[in-house]
Amino acid sequence: MSSARSADPANPAGAINALVFDAYGTLFNVHSVVARCDELFPGKGQALSALWRSRQLEYSWLRSLMGRYVNFDQVTADALKYACDALQLSCSEAQRVALAQGYRTLQPFDDARDALSALAAMSSAPRLAILSNGAPDMLNALVAHNRMERAIPDVMSVDSVGVFKPDPRVYQLAVDRLKLPAAQIGFVSSNGWDAAGARAFGFKVLWINRGGAPVEELGVRPDRELKSLRELPGLLAGM
Ligand code: LAC
Repeated sequence: MSSARSADPANPAGAINALVFDAYGTLFNVHSVVARCDELFPGKGQALSALWRSRQLEYSWLRSLMGRYVNFDQVTADALKYACDALQLSCSEAQRVALAQGYRTLQPFDDARDALSALAAMSSAPRLAILSNGAPDMLNALVAHNRMERAIPDVMSVDSVGVFKPDPRVYQLAVDRLKLPAAQIGFVSSNGWDAAGARAFGFKVLWINRGGAPVEELGVRPDRELKSLRELPGLLAGM
């Protein structure tokens, strides 16, 4: 079996009938926006994108804890405003709107494209879905922009439950939509905190650790750790 390794021997691999992917950071590179940021603020693109993304996540968690959900479009806009202010970048509202549009045209990672093609070609191909914090129109635009509608027919947004990952009500959406028990669903995320939330919920979790990060210390461990999405088809074939 590929270079994937079991991170939790107490939870060995079993049948996986569907794969549910996280979107931002897993299939799509959130830092595709760096070039646009750099056009507006030469030399500052990376710093802006990094702070924007980290505040975007923090705001999603904080709003969930506060019980004050707004959709991910709004969270993304708010996080960008904060990041510009914090970095003392003078950015008009029109410029911020244009930058935030970049989240609808993010590029997929190369390994994501390769993995989706290889999964589709498998003789017993699993069902593929997205479960993301993104608002429905953000996700649909992103999938359409990258012509992935056929590759990933089910796109699920947290919006219908009004709370963000890692709230268990979000992961339940996939169980309800796919009509499969959590243990038959492979949840694929490169976000360590999302992998932890999904594992706590009961999914089989395949953590895509492209950067060699340590596992999050949240009391649960992913079932498998992979360096690249390209390892997925081989891993499934061996299960
Ligand atoms: C998502 C964020 C967590 O796609 O990356 O849900």
